Amino acid sequence: MSITKQFPSVLVFDSGIGGLSVYNEIYNKIPNVHYIYAFDNEMFPYGDKSSELLINRVNSVIEAVTQFYSIDLAVIACNTASTICLPSLRSKFSFPIIGVVPAIKPASLLTKNKCIGLLATKATIKRTYIIDLIRQFATHCTVQLLGLSELALIAENKLQGGTVDMQQLKELMQPWLELQTIPDTIVLGCTHYPFIKKELQMIFPQATFIDSGNAIATRVYNLLNDKYVLNQKPLSASENIVLSTNYNQSVEKLIKKLSDYNLNKYHTIKVSDV
Ligand code: DGL
Repeated sequence: MSITKQFPSVLVFDSGIGGLSVYNEIYNKIPNVHYIYAFDNEMFPYGDKSSELLINRVNSVIEAVTQFYSIDLAVIACNTASTICLPSLRSKFSFPIIGVVPAIKPASLLTKNKCIGLLATKATIKRTYIIDLIRQFATHCTVQLLGLSELALIAENKLQGGTVDMQQLKELMQPWLELQTIPDTIVLGCTHYPFIKKELQMIFPQATFIDSGNAIATRVYNLLNDKYVLNQKPLSASENIVLSTNYNQSVEKLIKKLSDYNLNKYHTIKVSDV
């Protein structure tokens, strides 16, 4: 075992605030690491962008971050990006890169009525990655796919202090409410959705909701634990950093909330090209 650095720097990346749901799980497990939370609000939402654009863009943002910070491990805390960008990122950067993919496998083991729902962005539900996951783990189930653009925006708005319009949410969920067999296990296949889980649970009171946050945190812990001493005194909160690709009023509102996540320093990061 070689100990290279006392506190590794972990980058958590998303298009918006969704990745905070993953960051939160990682932080709770490993508070004594230096965190950089970067989000690409200039290009948000990712869910309606083409695969080619996303691959270029995510590579450019991570590249821009690495110009200023030395990264020891990165988490692409975005299903829309992970399901398409991981191979190119891994070929470009030498640090380990962990992706987030919808928890189809655990859901397939949990469902009793053999009906799983995958709630994700429009881009994610179309990926061959998802079709392969379903073929691999869930052929004994019916998998209902619902791809929506609005949910990530609803979650962003909630985190900035807004309220969730339950009527709108119910209308968005109508395709599943009309089904003969409603999924008893719903996979939150977008990292924004854990922030509106309470509201979704009100619409599907019988369902169990699953996200990948905890599994990702365990994976990060295991990878870092091989290389670093993780059980030391936490760094002071001010050393954790938030980066966004654009500064606007939403970011201003959000920054006030980010101290709840022990993310206290903010910078805007400029991304060239795309
Ligand atoms: N948080 C992202 C995900 O997990 C998507 C939000 C967006 O559309 O940008 O898929």
